Amino acid sequence: MTESAEKFGPERAGAYERQSRIALAGYEACHELAACMLAAALGGEGERSILVVGAGGTAQEIVTAAALEPGWRFTAVDPSPSMLDLAVARLRERGLAERTRVHLGYVEELPRDVRFEAATLIGVLHHLAGDEAKAQLLRSIAERLDPGAPLILACNHRAYASEPLLLAAWGERWRLAGASAEERKRGLETILAGGDPPASEEAVAELLARSGFKRPLRFFSSLFWGAWLARREGSESGPAA
Ligand SMILES: C[S@@+](CC[C@H](N)C(=O)[O-])C[C@H]1O[C@@H](n2cnc3c(N)ncnc32)[C@H](O)[C@@H]1O
Repeated sequence: MTESAEKFGPERAGAYERQSRIALAGYEACHELAACMLAAALGGEGERSILVVGAGGTAQEIVTAAALEPGWRFTAVDPSPSMLDLAVARLRERGLAERTRVHLGYVEELPRDVRFEAATLIGVLHHLAGDEAKAQLLRSIAERLDPGAPLILACNHRAYASEPLLLAAWGERWRLAGASAEERKRGLETILAGGDPPASEEAVAELLARSGFKRPLRFFSSLFWGAWLARREGSESGPAA
């Protein structure tokens, strides 16, 4: 298992629902807008096949998009058993298991001849160390998408230590949420130790460009976090292309 998956073991998975909503101000809004951006980019109702990479935790991408678009079906990929188990439990609870294929592992392991009409990569990229690993994951997604297909990418995109004010505000958000001093300290240690975000929005655009994606359009921002819709290279189809 890669380091980026190992850190999402049982303990972190158990705390994920609460921590993710505090750590990312606007977690639900980001997921709602991601679903709306995808629907707008794909245009029209109907059956669509969506690849959800890093789907572990609360399966929020699928829960939100499935409510908006009854015709969409999902393939959920995540290498962490603890995180994926949680997601599957949530999908069952919401009656969405039938609409979702689940793969415990990596995108590279999916058959290359199966193509998706859209993909999401939310909250994953900054956990991968180095540009090459990031570009490789993005390329493996691009290889499984139709030309012109939309990708939702959301991740932190500034070196944490480079923006002390944002980092301090992030700590204050934990305080506002009633976290104890100990919990705040642990949260801060986790974010500082566990990530390697692209250094800027330009760095995100460069990574996307070298991996086969074009024209990233940012639709959400929250402290270190950004969310973009980009298109796989190639001619686009669909009314909103
Ligand atoms: C912060 S969680 C994000 C979960 C979810 N997307 C959300 O928005 O709540 C990051 C997830 O990425 C997964 N992950 C780590 N490395 C990965 C990789 N190389 N490919 C796919 N998923 C990965 C982790 O196991 C974890 O479940």
